[in-house]
Amino acid sequence: MTQKPYIVDELISAKAIAARVEALAKEISTFYADTDKLVVVGLLRGSFIFIADLVREIQLPVEVDFLEASSYGNSTVSSREVRILKDLRGEIAGRDVLVVEDIIDTGYTLKHVLEILETRHPRRVEVCALLNKPSRRETDVQAKWVGFDIPDRFVVGYGIDYAQRNRNLPHIGAVRFTEEN
Ligand code: IMP
Ligand code: MG
Repeated sequence: MTQKPYIVDELISAKAIAARVEALAKEISTFYADTDKLVVVGLLRGSFIFIADLVREIQLPVEVDFLEASSYGNSTVSSREVRILKDLRGEIAGRDVLVVEDIIDTGYTLKHVLEILETRHPRRVEVCALLNKPSRRETDVQAKWVGFDIPDRFVVGYGIDYAQRNRNLPHIGAVRFTEEN
């Protein structure tokens, strides 16, 4: 894939992310103190680093599972429906489910994923998103826990990609296109 040249400006440092993840995990551990049925579900692929760091700070027994939804991506699909590309391995009926998402933008991905999960009769479903772009929201979905509200910039790093690149950056950066030539 050819890409316009760009540079990445640091938006959130690795240190700030670590501190925030620790604080989120504390709140989550308190919230779920009464449950022994917690399943933490990471949405692939963007959440893979976040979920790895988050579950290591959660002081409860947890199961970890993953789900990959199709992204409507760059296509001009008006319905913005999402399909499941990789489903959970485990059952969630009667379970407490914590969905871990990298970033909530319009909210359509999360809305559809939550609708799919609800058909399986979990006990309760909550959402923890690392990043949130409130100014872009087109749906009414909300995350119970959000790491950082960010402005309407395209971000990469800490698991999040631009055309499959930059997932391995330890911090969150904003993409800035540079002059061509
Ligand atoms: P939504 O359905 O519009 O909320 O989009 C959610 C998904 O789009 C996220 O899980 C990301 O995969 C992707 N996405 C949204 N904003 C960004 C961004 O700034 N950088 C990289 N991926 C993004
Ligand atoms: Mg995603």
